[in-house]
Amino acid sequence: MDKEASLGRPTILVVDDDHHVLESILLRLSDHGYQVVTADSAAEALDRLDDRDITIVLTDIRMPDMDGIELAMRIHERDPDLPVLIMTAFVDTDVVVGALKSGAFDFIYKPLNHELLVHAIDKAAAFCAMKRIEKNYRLDLEAEVRKKTEELNDLNREIIRRLTVVAEYRDTDTGLHNWRIGRFSAIIANGLGLPSDFVETLFLASTLHDIGKVAVPDSILLKPGALTPEEFTIIKSHSAIGAKMLEGSAHAVIRLAESIALNHHERWNGSGYPNGLSGAAIPIEGRIVMLADQYDALRSQRPYKKPFSHEETCRIILEGDGRTLPIHFDPQVLETFRQMESEFAIAFAALLDQ
Ligand SMILES: [Fe+2]
Ligand SMILES: [Fe+2]
Repeated sequence: MDKEASLGRPTILVVDDDHHVLESILLRLSDHGYQVVTADSAAEALDRLDDRDITIVLTDIRMPDMDGIELAMRIHERDPDLPVLIMTAFVDTDVVVGALKSGAFDFIYKPLNHELLVHAIDKAAAFCAMKRIEKNYRLDLEAEVRKKTEELNDLNREIIRRLTVVAEYRDTDTGLHNWRIGRFSAIIANGLGLPSDFVETLFLASTLHDIGKVAVPDSILLKPGALTPEEFTIIKSHSAIGAKMLEGSAHAVIRLAESIALNHHERWNGSGYPNGLSGAAIPIEGRIVMLADQYDALRSQRPYKKPFSHEETCRIILEGDGRTLPIHFDPQVLETFRQMESEFAIAFAALLDQ
């Protein structure tokens, strides 16, 4: 916003090649509390607009270098809201209508009636004040909407975060495994060059990948020893159960989460579950989270295994160890992991269970 206007003292730029006219308008408007800047040509007027904060322009219709209507149009190219009043000695209705249509704010007839002049300027000043209020109101409103949107996004993220804590409560009660999966998935998706809004959605959605585990009994989920084939079948049901819990949403994050819950144990070579999908039939989000989940499982302590170091984990994923094999992974996802593995180590260290 311009300085003068914000101080409540509108500055009027008066343009006329007749110095007597300039003088008399300057006196009259100054008397009424306006600041006045004068110019005796259109070129000078445009210069003034560059280096002063002008609230209103009052110009003669006949200038040696440009007519007042063209000057008004030039001014409006820079600032469409700046009121330009035109002074004319001729009452030619066509000229007046044409000028108003091309954006002139008002007409003032010469010889000048000073009361009418001041009235017209007051009217233009009131218009400017209204415009300013409207603009501030709009800015406030936009800021408020931005703030509310941010709050809502925060709330959404927090709800998802707490939901992941629920999902993992009996395991580690921190939900950190799920957040690491979010980070790892985002690292891979970025490395694959996927669009940034997808990466952001994937980051949140992937944290819900194991939500179906809430339906697996403690006796199986927390069992320290080896699982029977029946127990393993029950554990495996967490993919389909998670997808069922998330199905039917209209929201992108939840829809992606549904797909991830269902597909994050599928393997590229078709040996995964629940549907034994292979290759590109597995949605990309499933292929990404599957590798992220593998990395985290290998790095983590389990009742039946010690945690592996980052280096050992990379070797197992990239070269295989008999149980985990490179053919389980989408080759492009695997290649991206090879390039980004150092970022996995950093993210894992930053989100470590205490
Ligand atoms: Fe899982
Ligand atoms: Fe998991």
